[in-house]
Amino acid sequence: MTEQNNKSTSQPNQDGRLDHVAIAVSNLEEALIFYQESLGLTLLEIEVVEEQGVRVAKLDTGNTHIELLEPLGPDTPVGKFVAQKGPGLHHICIGVTAIGERLQCLKERNTRLINEDPKIGAGGAQIAFVHPKATGGVLLELSQPR
Ligand code: CO
Repeated sequence: MTEQNNKSTSQPNQDGRLDHVAIAVSNLEEALIFYQESLGLTLLEIEVVEEQGVRVAKLDTGNTHIELLEPLGPDTPVGKFVAQKGPGLHHICIGVTAIGERLQCLKERNTRLINEDPKIGAGGAQIAFVHPKATGGVLLELSQPR
C-alpha cells in the first residue's frame, strides 16, 4: 500500500463519488436473471469477499455500480440482514481518497462508526462502514480503491 498525493491525482477517485449501491439478495444467480438478463446491465465480475462474508456481483451502471450481495452464510452481517428484513437495499458507498484521514475526522466529530479502522472489501479496496444513526438512516460505506 503506497501513499498517494490525493490533491493532484488525475484518477477519478475524488471524495464524494458514488462508488456503488449494494443490494442484499438471497440468491445471486436468481437476482442476475433480472439485473443482467431482463434489465440488460453488464456483469463485470463475481467475487467472493471472505472478510465481509459475501459473494458480490458487480454490475456496470455507467459512472457507478450496483453490487448484488449474497451472504456466504446465515451468521454473516448480510445473512442476518436478509433473515431479518428480507432482500433489499443494504448500503450505499462513497469513494474517498484517504480513508484513514476521513475516519479520523469522523471520530473527532464523534460520528458513530461500525468500523473504526479500514477493512478489506471487494476489489481489495479499503473500506469502513458508518452507522445509519449518523447518516439519516442509511448504512454508508466509505471506500478507498486499491
Ligand atoms: Co459495498
